[in-house]
Amino acid sequence: VGSVLLEGPRVVEEASAAGVHLELLALREGEDFQAAAERTVRLSRGLFRSLSQTLTPQGVMAIGRARPASLEEALAASRLAGWPLLALDGIQDPGNVGSIVRTAAAAGMPAVVVLPGTADPFGAKAIRGSAGNVFRLLVARAGWEELAGLRSLGAAAAGGRPLAEADLEGVELLVLGSEARGLSRPGLAALTIPVQAGVESLNVAAAAAVILFELRRRRAA
Ligand SMILES: C[S@@+](CC[C@H](N)C(=O)[O-])C[C@H]1O[C@@H](n2cnc3c(N)ncnc32)[C@H](O)[C@@H]1O
Repeated sequence: VGSVLLEGPRVVEEASAAGVHLELLALREGEDFQAAAERTVRLSRGLFRSLSQTLTPQGVMAIGRARPASLEEALAASRLAGWPLLALDGIQDPGNVGSIVRTAAAAGMPAVVVLPGTADPFGAKAIRGSAGNVFRLLVARAGWEELAGLRSLGAAAAGGRPLAEADLEGVELLVLGSEARGLSRPGLAALTIPVQAGVESLNVAAAAAVILFELRRRRAA
């Protein structure tokens, strides 16, 4: 269990609605906001601004308690729901990590696993990027050695099977690669979203949105 910084009323509300225990709720003076917390403090404008990590703080911050999941839990939840487990392979930008997590939650995925070199999904910037939706998913950490043996498919900027033709049935692990280097595991079966000639690749969060909603569409079909 780790303490996480939650910034902004929407993120605090989302986290609280998802069952995150709020250890401390900090409100800027004059702010009208309700949430169940162990302790609530009111801070002057100046103090609130100096504690906030955002440029334009919204007057509500909290410290919550997040529970990372085990890989077994994340895999079990994914299998039960008939989704692959989504692996983030060295995605360094916390904004991208947050955006992917938000998309995964919106698509209905139950769990993600974070490989080494990936920004912390429970960091303040990633939590903001997820709009608080990170708490709707199970988030596990693992190395490749623990993922060996799973039926895996990577998203690759080039060279993979075109998404429309890719067999997504029974895939247990879907891997998204890093912004700079792509997938870290050579030889992974891959799918590619065909893009216009001359464009090298998609932003990883945009690629995630296309693939996860294609998965959702196929599940509904
Ligand atoms: C910016 S791309 C990485 C580009 C990098 N130069 C490379 O060599 O792969 C980051 C990640 O987004 C995903 N991605 C980007 N474009 C994609 C596409 N057209 N099809 C499938 N995945 C894509 C892949 O997971 C990729 O590893």
